[in-house]
Amino acid sequence: MISKLLKSHLRAIPNKMSWWLWVLLVPVALFGLVVLRGAPYVPTKRRLLDKAFTDLYQLNDKDTLVDIGSGDGVVLRAAARRGAKAVGYEINPILVLISRLSSRSSLISVRLMDFWYAELPLETTIIYTFGEARDIKRMYEKAELTAIAHNKVIYFMSFGFNVPGKKPFKYDGSFYLYKVKPLQRG
Ligand SMILES: C[S@@+](CC[C@H](N)C(=O)[O-])C[C@H]1O[C@@H](n2cnc3c(N)ncnc32)[C@H](O)[C@@H]1O
Repeated sequence: MISKLLKSHLRAIPNKMSWWLWVLLVPVALFGLVVLRGAPYVPTKRRLLDKAFTDLYQLNDKDTLVDIGSGDGVVLRAAARRGAKAVGYEINPILVLISRLSSRSSLISVRLMDFWYAELPLETTIIYTFGEARDIKRMYEKAELTAIAHNKVIYFMSFGFNVPGKKPFKYDGSFYLYKVKPLQRG
């Protein structure tokens, strides 16, 4: 009898372990595999954002900021505090959930999707990114295509990475701000 009980317990251990393994593996995969599509999750410091949205680009209630890869939503909340509409695209469902729970303002919306496939809202005035060197040129091209499609100037703000071959409109030591005109690309 005792040995039967012991055997059934021992048989159950691998099942329990695999359950816990999944709980660990799914977030690791979600946070890790993102590098195939863009930068991994590292939030921009709130202090730096507050300074940039005051000194570099005076974000206000006429703006719609789009964060391509919005992480936990820290940029969206900084934008909403200034009265701007803020739209985030985020590929990691855990971060989408966190940002939705922590960003209760009606000015903020977060979309679970790969931003490379997103058509940005017509109201977009500024695109924000904390990307990485590998992607920054392609991200800027997305801003150019958006400016052409919307037929208006769009600002492109990049934290930490400059766009090779493009002169920033402003730079404050952390953020590069570009003014993207709706010019047809050659
Ligand atoms: C460096 S973090 C920046 C987060 C946020 N923008 C900030 O500044 O605090 C980059 C974010 O982009 C997300 N990401 C990377 N590639 C993406 C893609 N193709 N589509 C949507 N989100 C993506 C990552 O999951 C991560 O949360």
